[in-house]
Amino acid sequence: MNTDTRRFLKTVLVASALTILPARAAETVWLTELDLGHLHFEGWRKPQVDKSFSGKPLSIAGRKFERGVGTRALSTLWLELDGRTEKFLASVGVDDAAGNAEAAVAFTIIGDGKKLWESGVMKRGQSAKAVDVGLKGVRSLLLMVDHAGESNNYDHADWADARFMFGGVKPLTVNAPREEAVILTPKPPREPRINGPKVYGCRPGNPFIYRIPTTGERPIQFTADGLPASLHLDKISGIITGAAPERGTHTVMLRAKNRHGTASRALKIVSGDTLALTPPMGWNHWYAHYNRVTDTMMREAADVMVKSGMADVGYAYVNIDDCWMNAPGDAKRPPDPLRVGPFRDAAGNIIPNKHFPDMRLMTAYIHAKGLKAGIYTSPGPLTCGGYAGAYEHEEQDARLFAEWGFDFLKYDWCSYSKIAKDDKSLGALKKPYKQMGDILKKLPRDVVFNLCQYGMGNVWEWGTEIGGHCWRTAGDLGAELNRIFAVALKNAEYRQWSKPGAWNDPDYIQIGWIGDARTNGEPKPCPMTPTEQYSFMSLWCLSAAPLFYSGDMSRLDEFTLNVLCNPEVIEVDQDPLGECARVVPLTPETFLMVKNLEDGSKAVGLCNRGEIAASIVAKWGDIGVSGKQTVRDLWRQRDLGKFDGQFKATVPRHGVVLLRLRR
Ligand code: GLA
Repeated sequence: MNTDTRRFLKTVLVASALTILPARAAETVWLTELDLGHLHFEGWRKPQVDKSFSGKPLSIAGRKFERGVGTRALSTLWLELDGRTEKFLASVGVDDAAGNAEAAVAFTIIGDGKKLWESGVMKRGQSAKAVDVGLKGVRSLLLMVDHAGESNNYDHADWADARFMFGGVKPLTVNAPREEAVILTPKPPREPRINGPKVYGCRPGNPFIYRIPTTGERPIQFTADGLPASLHLDKISGIITGAAPERGTHTVMLRAKNRHGTASRALKIVSGDTLALTPPMGWNHWYAHYNRVTDTMMREAADVMVKSGMADVGYAYVNIDDCWMNAPGDAKRPPDPLRVGPFRDAAGNIIPNKHFPDMRLMTAYIHAKGLKAGIYTSPGPLTCGGYAGAYEHEEQDARLFAEWGFDFLKYDWCSYSKIAKDDKSLGALKKPYKQMGDILKKLPRDVVFNLCQYGMGNVWEWGTEIGGHCWRTAGDLGAELNRIFAVALKNAEYRQWSKPGAWNDPDYIQIGWIGDARTNGEPKPCPMTPTEQYSFMSLWCLSAAPLFYSGDMSRLDEFTLNVLCNPEVIEVDQDPLGECARVVPLTPETFLMVKNLEDGSKAVGLCNRGEIAASIVAKWGDIGVSGKQTVRDLWRQRDLGKFDGQFKATVPRHGVVLLRLRR
């Protein structure tokens, strides 16, 4: 019997068993008996089984429940069913322990893309609503709790007494509905294409290093007309080195030639006071390697950045985050003996831990590839991971970082709270950053200054004034990857401060293989669907966000590279105007993001943060254009035609359709 026959007979047998045998009595499974590792919610806790989100007994309007799941909006749990689940039963409401009298949520149950049940707005103190939803024939189920009302604080919600009655296979919880990872972006053509920023800032006389990001078959011959005399171009590697030219704008015509064709593009080198004239791009180790980072990993990241083609589309910084220094023996995180030791030598110089035998050699290795190196510390005595910080050694450390050859500094508030005590005044918040900003400006090296203080005191309003180039607008995105739309929307509220040399930073791109930020775990495939991974990149580019990939560089697959490396998408991020897109709200689930680009064209994102596909109409009036527009799909790098008045698309769950409109 061949395999096909066997498969056929099996199908027939199963089918006849289903029709002939009397239906099995439905069994009950409690929601709490299923794997709740797939429950996503805002906040850092573990799912609460038989307890409220705050760890107390489940209680809705004074009524106590023995069983159920305590969660926090926005909360989603996806399940796969076999079509023979009969019903879902529960009592739902806001938990009495929610520490906000205004707490309000809305429960929704979606089956196969259709709303099956809605609670409407439920407030704290309101009696539980009974859920009794038939599920026959349903294969994909979503249990969702959304925010409602004005405030999102303490939106603690209970799925009390929640259970399924099923006839066939037990419901299975999953991360999200299955999706195929489709590669949308065509491979780069064989002929050269020059990518990367069109404008580049440096400070007169400082060391200069720039690798011309270029796709196309190598060998490529590079030339640069109008290159200032203080700079030298290596014609084979396309790396420009030397000393930054005298103050002023130097327009250089870059050319790249291979056996298939030629490309040229102007690069404006602006020698003056401002660095990072376009959002910095690179890699940061944090979300992949946490406290496991080593010199070898940093070198490997640099190798991969070049070999994978990332450097050919503009990624340039190879940045080390926390944990390169020594920790005291009582460090918060598991003490790796090679990371424990004295903080400083007799002269007060900070000592890297044993995983970093020679910082100078490491940065030299990175620079030899035409890339740049970044480092991390805290103004406090200890970093967030509990390692040596820069407190009372700020200038000495900054000088040493520059001597070691670092081109980027992330300065992370962490234990500085202890120094600032309870002083949350603007002066106190600015103090350590201004101090470091002033030090960096005087260094004989261009060091991009990244403020990491989670948005305190509206850092976007004063980041530039104290010498910063980019600043985190909020706490760590970490494991809360279900928040990318919310984060992009929040970040857009500060769009007026986004400009060349001043970037709002919503944290790193976490796609491909990343470690769980809750446990600082080893890298695993990220939990996001392929659509969500595209959305991540689309939203960040529309936001003019710094583009730092933070997954495992040794495990970059074709899909991840396709999301990270589309030059037309990156061009939206790197546009010289430096605008963050403005948001046009359409429905609670959908909105447009509209970004003006230097050439007069517009980048437009049709965004659906909702749980089911949505039809989105982008009207010319909302975008600020008129007449016939050529609409280009940037992910597919394909013109979709000329449209008048509007463009309509079906946008999948958590999707962004990213377009460029030209007259
Ligand atoms: C903070 C920062 C993160 C990372 C860690 C390192 O949480 O916000 O980006 O640098 O510290 O400990």
